[in-house]
Amino acid sequence: MKYVIAPSILSADFTKLGSEIKETEDNGAAYLHFDVMDGMFVSNISFGIPVMKSIRKATRQMMDAHLMVQDPIRYVEAFRDAGADLITVHYEACPDVRKALVKIKDMGLKAGLSINPNTPVEAVREYLEIVDMILIMSVYPGAGGQKFIPESLERIRDARKMIRETGREIDLEVDGGVTLDNMPEIMEAGANILVAGSAVFGGDIGENVRKCMEIFRKNE
Ligand code: DX5
Ligand code: ZN
Repeated sequence: MKYVIAPSILSADFTKLGSEIKETEDNGAAYLHFDVMDGMFVSNISFGIPVMKSIRKATRQMMDAHLMVQDPIRYVEAFRDAGADLITVHYEACPDVRKALVKIKDMGLKAGLSINPNTPVEAVREYLEIVDMILIMSVYPGAGGQKFIPESLERIRDARKMIRETGREIDLEVDGGVTLDNMPEIMEAGANILVAGSAVFGGDIGENVRKCMEIFRKNE
C-alpha cells in the first residue's frame, strides 16, 4: 500500500508559509492538507480561496482540500479554480451527499467523504461506489493540536474492511492527533494517507517529514 503524509497547514507559521510548505515537499510529502473552516459547521474560521490560489503557485503537491463547511457544494467550483486536486466534504454538512460528491467528480477532481467521530462508519457505505477517498476524523474537527481519539482505530479497521469488500482502489485518510508514535498502529489499522499538523509543523519540519517517510518505508 502506498503511504502518504499530508501536512496540515493549519499548524504552519503563516509568516513563512511558502518556505514551510517547500520544506514538506522537498522532504517527501506528496499531499498538502488544506483545512477550510467556515465558523458554521465548526466554530473556528481558518482560511480559504485566496490562500489556496497563492500557495498553488508554490507547490506541486496534491492539494487536499478538507472542507469543514456547511453545504460545501456551493464552493466546489471555486476551490477547483483555486487549485484543489481533491475535495473532501463532510457527511454531516451536506444536505445531499451524493449530489456534492458527483459534482466534485464532474469537475474532474478526486472526491473525498469525511465522517466525524460520532458518525457511524456504516454511513459511508453507499458512497463507496463514487468516492476516491474516505476521511476518518480522529478528533472532532475545528482545531489542530488535539489528542487522537483511541476508538478511531476500530473505525479505521471497519472502513478499510468496507473498502476492501468493494474491490475499488479507495484511499483511507486519517486526520487529527496523528503523531510519529501512533502512526504505525494507524497504518496497521488500514489508513494509507495520514494528515499531520502539529506533528509536522512543530519543530524541525524537514526532519519531521523525513521521520514519517522512514516509518512508511518500514511498513511498505
Ligand atoms: C482539524 C483538522 C485537522 C488538524 C490536524 O479540524 O481537520 O486537519 O488540522 O492537526 P493535528 O495533526 O495537529 O491534529
Ligand atoms: Zn483536516
